[in-house]
Amino acid sequence: MRFDIISAVPELLVSPFEHSIIKRATQNGILEINVHDLRVYGLGSQNQIDDYQYGGGAGMVMMCEPLDMLINSLKKQTNYDDIIYLTPDGKNFTQKIANELSLGENLLLICGHYKGIDERIRQLHVTREISIGDFVLSGGEIAAAVLVDSISRLVPGVMNDETSALFDSFQDNLLAPPVYTRPAEYQGLKVPDILLSGHQAKIDEWRYTQALERTQLRRPDLLQDESN
Ligand code: ADE
Repeated sequence: MRFDIISAVPELLVSPFEHSIIKRATQNGILEINVHDLRVYGLGSQNQIDDYQYGGGAGMVMMCEPLDMLINSLKKQTNYDDIIYLTPDGKNFTQKIANELSLGENLLLICGHYKGIDERIRQLHVTREISIGDFVLSGGEIAAAVLVDSISRLVPGVMNDETSALFDSFQDNLLAPPVYTRPAEYQGLKVPDILLSGHQAKIDEWRYTQALERTQLRRPDLLQDESN
């Protein structure tokens, strides 16, 4: 799977992809992640990418021309399944959307800054608008990293244990059950006996019950909402 990411601060997107699971998958060629510096397409001697907003008001807006030029040049080389703009006024990102997007081959992500991007770029190019939560970040880069990470772990071959992404919280609308590792007792707190029993069917049943109880307690909305 290939991700192209458009950013005015590409340095923000170096570290998240240079470790652990994502690093291994890019080295193995299962993932390709390309970060494109918007400023390369900036206008004039200052490589300008933002300007004052029409109608007045605080905050700059990312201009049409640099974004349009960069997006068009990328579109010439790659057929995108989706062109996603990361924005707090987008649709809330969920595991269901991650699952959907993981079925594609090529995604283009656009990171906004300041007041956001000129509305006409949204009209001309963007196919999905996604928010990672009801709060405002300084820019879309951290949100883009969240998408790349959560989508990538669903791509076959990215995870070591092929099945483990299926048991993540939110798959099946359930939070994950509690997990333990050695030692079997720590500061008087014991690992539940069932997990030491070696009885796999009973362990699976216990995990399911725990997941259900945890979800009822912490996120009852997940059990009601069929659209998650
Ligand atoms: N850019 C700024 N805030 C954001 C958010 N909550 N989600 C996605 N992109 C953003």
